Amino acid sequence: MTTATAAAPKSEAAKSLALFGGTPVSTKPVPFMSTALAQADIDACNEVLKSGMLRAATKCAELEERWATMTEAKFGMTCANGTCALQLAYEPLIRPGDEVLVPAWSFIATVSMVVARGAIPVFVDANAETFQMDARDLARKVTRRTTAIACTHLYGCPADIDAIQAVAEKHNLMVIYDAAQAHLATYKTKGLGAFGDVVTYSLYATKNLATGEGGIVTCNDEGLAREIKLLRSHGESDKYLHESIGYNYRLNDMAGAIGCSRLNRLEEQTAQRRRNAAWYDAILAKIEGLKAPKTTPGAEAVYHLYTVQLELGRFTCTRDEFCKALNAEGVPTATHYPRPLPKQPALSDYDNEDCPVSDVLATKVFSLPMHHDLSDDHFRIVEEALHKVVNVYRG
Ligand SMILES: Cc1ncc(COP(=O)(O)O)c(C=O)c1O
Repeated sequence: MTTATAAAPKSEAAKSLALFGGTPVSTKPVPFMSTALAQADIDACNEVLKSGMLRAATKCAELEERWATMTEAKFGMTCANGTCALQLAYEPLIRPGDEVLVPAWSFIATVSMVVARGAIPVFVDANAETFQMDARDLARKVTRRTTAIACTHLYGCPADIDAIQAVAEKHNLMVIYDAAQAHLATYKTKGLGAFGDVVTYSLYATKNLATGEGGIVTCNDEGLAREIKLLRSHGESDKYLHESIGYNYRLNDMAGAIGCSRLNRLEEQTAQRRRNAAWYDAILAKIEGLKAPKTTPGAEAVYHLYTVQLELGRFTCTRDEFCKALNAEGVPTATHYPRPLPKQPALSDYDNEDCPVSDVLATKVFSLPMHHDLSDDHFRIVEEALHKVVNVYRG
């Protein structure tokens, strides 16, 4: 949640804000996310518990097969989490010392696992409207040493895949898509598994499909799928026959069972997220100074997050002050993200000082509550709170 010291109220109107002692729009906050399990999920998990066999088995296999089919990939491999999924994807395709083009605007794992591989991340700026990797900046940053592109489908919106693949084809680069936030999103009506060399997913507790911890890797090349499976489990091709060095990045069948059970509802929940996004779009269209997220042309987003931009020049407050006032009215917010990746201390050695859009986004963005359980009443609260806060802080 956002924290900031709010400016003291200057006007009578400001005193109406809950932050300064006024009556909040709602005393019961709108839930920011919905993570509750259904009875069917608990029953599915119980079946595995009763079986006593907790390792990756039939439920992980079922999840892999269904996920690959639903995302239009040939092969699916479950793994321990989305970070492991990135490692499993990067290791066969990227060599230490390679230059890899990465987003400046994403969650750190997309980039930190490039560094963990011993490769050199080169930051690419974001598109200011869609937040996705800017394909023109991508093309500018290719060098003789570039071997791969690691691109996130951020907030649930597919990146500009055609443009990215065109750069990759021109320079013979591998493409790894991080779809941790983009479960079941499509691009030009095709599932994301159809694009790039490998796609990775996180099944972390707050993701659209959540198993607590968990991940999935998909690809369309049989040899690569075999290599990833070997890496996932100590390079073991037969009982105690270790063909190559690998890890233990396996999932377990309780997580697999929860994943399969929740997957039964994911399409309907995704449709609900899209209806919610349309509702937010309509609310924001009536408020000057708040910019709704745009989707990449041809992309159908799944709105893991609904992230808004505050046009700072039109307001007398900072983003954090704005959010603090909204929070007090009963509307929780979160900042995805407060820093662009090149400005993270862990990645500052690689900062190319050349991602101005990402630098500005870090001062303007905030995410509104988004999940399949939002009600009409929740939207009423958000709309009223936004108008109330905007009216006080409008410059
Ligand atoms: C874009 C992105 N990539 C990778 C990850 C890492 O996934 P995990 O937390 O499952 O390791 C996340 C998790 O939040 C993410 O949002």
